This record gives sequence, C-alpha cells and structure tokens, in this order.
Amino acid sequence: MKGIILAGGSGTRLYPITIAVSKQLLPVYDKPMIYYPLSVLMLAGIKDILFITTPHDQDAFKKLLGDGSHVGCNFEYAVQEEPKGLAEAFTIGQKFIGNDKVALVLGDNIFHGNGLGSLIRSKIDIDGASIFAYPVKDPKRYGVVEFDTNKKAVSIEEKPEKPKSKYAVPGLYFYDNRVVEFAKQVEPSARGEKEISTINQMYLAAGKLEVGVMTRGMSWFDTGTVESLDDATEFIRVLQNRQSTMIGCIEEVAWERGFITKEKFAAAISRYGKSKYGDYLKIIVNDYNAGAEG
Ligand code: G1P
Repeated sequence: MKGIILAGGSGTRLYPITIAVSKQLLPVYDKPMIYYPLSVLMLAGIKDILFITTPHDQDAFKKLLGDGSHVGCNFEYAVQEEPKGLAEAFTIGQKFIGNDKVALVLGDNIFHGNGLGSLIRSKIDIDGASIFAYPVKDPKRYGVVEFDTNKKAVSIEEKPEKPKSKYAVPGLYFYDNRVVEFAKQVEPSARGEKEISTINQMYLAAGKLEVGVMTRGMSWFDTGTVESLDDATEFIRVLQNRQSTMIGCIEEVAWERGFITKEKFAAAISRYGKSKYGDYLKIIVNDYNAGAEG
C-alpha cells in the first residue's frame, strides 16, 4: 500500500500565521505538524509516501523530510497548483499509486490513541474503501456520515447545513485502486472543490464503503483554526510531559516498525542538535543499549 499526505491549501483561517509559512510546517508543541500524520502512515507500515504541497512550499518540505531514507522510507513530492479539493490527490498521485492500494492522510490531522496502530494496520489490505467516523460537537465543519439503526452507513455529506448525525469523517482514508478512476469522475462542489466526500459516496453507492467508529480511547484533532491548533498543541504538551513518551516521533516509529537499524537510528539523532526532540531520541537509544547489555 502507498501513502499520500496532502499538505496543500492556503490556510487562510490561520492568517497571518500562514501567509509566509505552510500550515503543515507550523509547530504542534515540539515538532512540525506534518510529523504527526506522517507517523500515522508509518505506523500502518507504509514506506512509500507522496507529499502533495503548494508549489511555493515544496522546497521547505524537502528540506525537512528529504528522500525519507533516514527513516527507512521513500518520500516523493508533487504539487497541487491550486487548492481545488482533496479528491485531486489521486489524480495528481496517479503515477505514484500505480496499481497499488493507497492511504490518504491530511497533513493537518492528528491522531493518537490506544490501538491506533493495530486499527490502521488492519486496513492495509482493503477491498473497497475504509474510513472512520468520530463524534464531534460541530459536525457542520466536516464530512458527516449518517448511520441506520444497525450502525451501517447510509449517507455522507460534505459540510452539511443540517448535519444528519454528530459523526464527522476524520482525514484518514484507505482505498483500493478503484479510487484513481473514481477521483477522475468527481465534479467540483458548490465551494469549487473536488470533495473526498464525493469519492466516499461513490464507494457507498457501490456497497464498498466500510465506516469504523473511532471510540473514546482515540483522539483526533484537526488544526484548521487557531483554537483547534492551540488545543492540539496543549494536548500533545500535557500528554507527552505526563507520560514522558513522544507522539509523532517519526524516527521512533521507524525503529519500532523495523524500518531502520540501530546504527541508522543513532545517525538520525545528530540532525536534531540540542533540542528536546533530540534528547528524547538519545534516551531511547541509551535505554536500548542498557537493555541489550543487561
Ligand atoms: C476536509 C474534508 C472533510 C473532512 C475534514 C477532516 O475538510 O473535506 O470531509 O471531514 O477534511 O479534517 P476541509 O479540511 O477541506 O475543511
């Protein structure tokens, strides 16, 4: 399975913060936002990842993430000329996807929780599409999924005026290869975007959409507004400092998933200098060494 991270968009709701800097490179506590969705794909075991950015932000992403070899991955880059919708990810990424299945994660979505790794690893071999539903207070801001009494999805609407449920669709989607053809058929919505919800409606109509409800144990943040960005930062800060483990540490995930050797892991540390992030990586290596000797 391939992975795509969509990190385009103009981030106008965060102006002036995002006038000169890509939203997905902003800090969420101690690391750039993009580390979080990237770590989710890596947790799923996905190594081939395409970053779709605006034309003017691409260089900054390349500077941060490079070719991915330091975390045992293969990173590629593509541009979305204008923010014309999430569904374009699959037409822009058509060549990259080839005949494979593909997971899409939005560059401004953060996931954390017990069982996240096994949940997403169970989607790797998907036949059809697999998306999630997460109860929120303000479903209007999102794609909204409606269930029947048997908890079967019956409709999906993008940013509905009158939401039919409280279940928002988070920005993490798993598709089989049909998604490339479906994406080509998507027409722009009233807001002028090719909506991911339209693709999900197509899978639903074909009887091939699986919707899993994310339970209380799972946390999902999008970071599209100043408040939600601040909430996410606070969440990461409190949890990390309490538990003394990091969320979204890509080197740690790479090592745990067996993408890189201990030597490569140790080498990756040096780029982080005297930062808190670098210190954390050093602790992991030292603990491992102590464990190996003991
Ligand atoms: C997008 C999708 C929406 C989804 C949301 C998750 O919204 O269109 O269906 O629920 O991401 O973050 P947008 O970020 O374009 O407002």
